[in-house]
Amino acid sequence: MKPEELVALALAARARAYAPYSKFAVGAALLLEDGSVASGCNVENASYGLTVCAERVALFTAVAQGKRSFQALAVATGPGASMCGACRQVLCEFAPGLTVHLADKNGRFRTTTLAELLPDSFGPEALR
Ligand code: THU
Repeated sequence: MKPEELVALALAARARAYAPYSKFAVGAALLLEDGSVASGCNVENASYGLTVCAERVALFTAVAQGKRSFQALAVATGPGASMCGACRQVLCEFAPGLTVHLADKNGRFRTTTLAELLPDSFGPEALR
């Protein structure tokens, strides 16, 4: 799948964001090894701290489907923002070298990697 197509799916997921408090809608589309896509949007809560980011919704959806190998992730926000630290860490557990496309609301994007976003990371190997 082309990056542009994955970005389009992240934008579609963004349209489903539940973000009445921050009004900051985020969509994520995670391309799995088998070519399918797990999507996520941020889901906020009146108890603010219970909010879950779009990226973790997408990742947990994939893992719950038994999928743990990923090719790329697209994240869509209004301004083309980067990913929060919590999501970087959670993604790193499964895909430390993941390709990441960071898109704005118009679908313009830049491409980076999780290794670049989270250098010198803490991972499962440290516990062995
Ligand atoms: N948010 C995400 O969904 N992903 C990120 O990487 C950064 C932040 C959400 C959480 C909250 O609903 C809103 O954006 C503002 O922080």
